[in-house]
Amino acid sequence: MNDFSFSSPTKIIFGRGAELRVGEETAVFSKRILLHSGGGSAERSGLMDRVRSSLRAAGVEWVELAGVKPNPRVDLVREGVALCRKEGLDFILAVGGGSVIDSAKAIALGVRYGGDVWDFYEYRAKAESALGVAVVLTIPAAGSESSTSTVISNGELALKRGFSSELLRPRFACMNPELTFTLPAYQTACGAADIMAHVMERYFTNVRNVGFTDRLCEATLKTVIDSLPRVLADPEDYDARSQIMWAGSVAHNDLLGTGREGCWGSHGIEHELSALYDVAHGAGLAAVFPAWMKYVWSHDIPRFARFATEVWGVEADWEHPERAALEGIRRLEAFFAASGLPVTLAELGIPRDRIPEMAEKAVAKGGGTVGNFVKLSSSDVERILELASS
Ligand code: NZQ
Ligand code: ZN
Repeated sequence: MNDFSFSSPTKIIFGRGAELRVGEETAVFSKRILLHSGGGSAERSGLMDRVRSSLRAAGVEWVELAGVKPNPRVDLVREGVALCRKEGLDFILAVGGGSVIDSAKAIALGVRYGGDVWDFYEYRAKAESALGVAVVLTIPAAGSESSTSTVISNGELALKRGFSSELLRPRFACMNPELTFTLPAYQTACGAADIMAHVMERYFTNVRNVGFTDRLCEATLKTVIDSLPRVLADPEDYDARSQIMWAGSVAHNDLLGTGREGCWGSHGIEHELSALYDVAHGAGLAAVFPAWMKYVWSHDIPRFARFATEVWGVEADWEHPERAALEGIRRLEAFFAASGLPVTLAELGIPRDRIPEMAEKAVAKGGGTVGNFVKLSSSDVERILELASS
């Protein structure tokens, strides 16, 4: 196991009515905030009105900036930075999913920086200070409610890039599983695929003697695998929604990555799909992850065989561990398909013609390779995307 330091200070307020505490929790940090939200689902469900009432009751004033789109854009971030400066706002409350939270984190960085906020995503700027961010979560997926990362798209450059800093970890997150009852089945499944991907990116490691976190990873994956069919059958199954929501935060607050080195190859590749074709991140992962596995499984057959037996209940085959390894990959793909997710680029509506461009871009941000479990060159990424195409 590797040495590590771990701190995940986001306060989690979990359960029915959690959003009603947002005013008192926010007042601890600021009395004048930016209230940031998405395309309208939180308005339609009545959540925004409950949030406003709670803020008002706690004596918190706010200025609103709505309209964050999935795969959030840097243009709105720039607008948010200007608004915070003009109105003297020093704290941001994000009401929504990963896109709203990531946009809020980007604004939080930009307000305290002299140059253009996109500099952070090109690694031209270092985060030295940021406004505080907090969250009312409406979709379990990205894990941004307790992660250090922000992922932003730049339409002009056709790029989607991430930036991480401990400064960006949200101060608190209100998580009421009931808020996820209104999620369309497709978004629910995309979220579950993303959660599973965050665990699998950590699970497939070259670091040895990480049995404790291996088991935490397996338990988290099995929880999502058990719960997703239940919420797809009954969107108001509170218990199953709760399991997924909490699993989604633990999957990405980096507890599961302690003492090990993650891969992040599939994420690096997927971000190029959503940058060019604006697909949902979780849907892109559902197509890329099984293809990545089919390409790299022989790098560590015992690990893939363990994934099959411990996560998917495949019978161990000591003489032919490769059979179990391949069966595990097949079951993952079948699970995604049965959950209504696209498992090929064609199903995502993505043609083959820009595969070389996506492969080049995927490795460019890592100095020529992407991923750690196997360091992939651009021709490896091309082959993975070809595998994902058929
Ligand atoms: O905008 P509204 O109207 O709210 O609609 C959203 C959006 O269309 C809808 N939605 C959210 N909550 C809902 C709801 N609809 C009905 N009822 C609700 N309760 O769902 C759609 C997707 O929302 P979005 O925030 O985009 O989803 P998600 O949480 O999956 O976030 C995806 C973004 O996060 C990034 C992804 O790349 C992508 O840009 N990621 C961020 C990470 C991080 N910061 O740590 C890590 C991840 O790996 C990921 O890359
Ligand atoms: Zn992800």
